[in-house]
Amino acid sequence: MPASTAAKPLIAPSILSADFARLADEIGTVESGGADWLHVDVMDGHFVPNLTIGPPVVASVHKVARVPLDVHLMITDPLRYAKDYAQAGAHVLTFHAEVAAGAKAREVIRAFRGAGVAKVGVALNPSTVPETIGDLLGEIDLVLVMSVFPGFGGQRFMPEVLPKIAWLRAHGFDGLVEMDGGINADTAPACAQAGCQVFVAGSAVFGAKDRAGAIANLRRLSARN
Ligand code: DX5
Ligand code: ZN
Repeated sequence: MPASTAAKPLIAPSILSADFARLADEIGTVESGGADWLHVDVMDGHFVPNLTIGPPVVASVHKVARVPLDVHLMITDPLRYAKDYAQAGAHVLTFHAEVAAGAKAREVIRAFRGAGVAKVGVALNPSTVPETIGDLLGEIDLVLVMSVFPGFGGQRFMPEVLPKIAWLRAHGFDGLVEMDGGINADTAPACAQAGCQVFVAGSAVFGAKDRAGAIANLRRLSARN
């Protein structure tokens, strides 16, 4: 089994569900609660109907964060902003397959690597088949499988996306598979069984009274057995 397939689960709270007026404190609570990564949702009001944060905010988050930033670009033009988000401190930088396939996707991957990010990811919307990125699997470090339609936190998990993980493994992908959207104590076990390693959770962590408890519970439920 490749090393990454056997790796321990990573819990990545999404700051989309945090109180942005108190962001440093909010980040502190999930870091001391055991978060492995911080998931940062970037939306441009074009690829998705919502607007969130730009590079200066990511740079500020990077200054206070002690864990790696997992930056999920839900934007139409990832090439244009590659350098900005890389310099802002993205450890993982993920773009969507729906905005760049084939040669254009390769150009984005090259730009992300050239800008110095540690890990390059590609995200799949629920309606995008994994075949779309079949020719890129040897060039990326992470596949983010969306288990809701992107744009908002707090939506219901879509179990029908789970077979995408088996497809990726069957086609030789041995990098990290991340699941994003509607992950909570009820849905995490099925993701773990399907082979997911990175668990994004917004409302299930930031909405919990006991955030450390919520993270510990997700970690326990995310272990493959
Ligand atoms: C949705 C975002 C998710 C979102 C997850 O477009 O990509 O990262 O924050 O939030 P929950 O866990 O509440 O579904
Ligand atoms: Zn996300």
